[in-house]
Amino acid sequence: MHMFRMAVMGTALLGLLATPAAAQDAKVAKGEALYASQKCALCHAIDGKGNKKFPLDGVGKTATADLVKLWLTDPKAAEAKTGKAGKPAMRSFAKLAADEVDALVAYMLSLK
Ligand code: HEC
Repeated sequence: MHMFRMAVMGTALLGLLATPAAAQDAKVAKGEALYASQKCALCHAIDGKGNKKFPLDGVGKTATADLVKLWLTDPKAAEAKTGKAGKPAMRSFAKLAADEVDALVAYMLSLK
């Protein structure tokens, strides 16, 4: 709920300020809300919260936008490309809207 409100506030701010930095913050906040609503924490942990088997802390230091997008939309291809895999295997989030995928990518890349 809290994160959803943050995302809404971020979007409102975007309308008011319309600066690139505000737009980016709104995207990251939206991605953080989607991370919760899509239950990524069933398999992943951030700041020690969630499934510690596959932590995502610092993933923004090494991953690229294209690679995170591939994990979300075609995890099998991402496994083949990176050699990373685990059980349970990542499920596909290809059914999300393009702007939702973009927001999740922005959130992942903010984890530095
Ligand atoms: C059913 C389990 C599962 C769910 C749900 C899941 N993932 Fe994953 N994910 C994995 C596994 C397994 C890997 C590959 C193993 C690893 O990271 O070492 C992975 C890899 C990744 C990577 C690449 C990590 C790296 O180190 O390069 C990212 C980014 C990622 N997932 C993000 C997400 C996001 C965002 C969500 C929610 C929208 C999500 N995952 C949901 C299991 C899951």
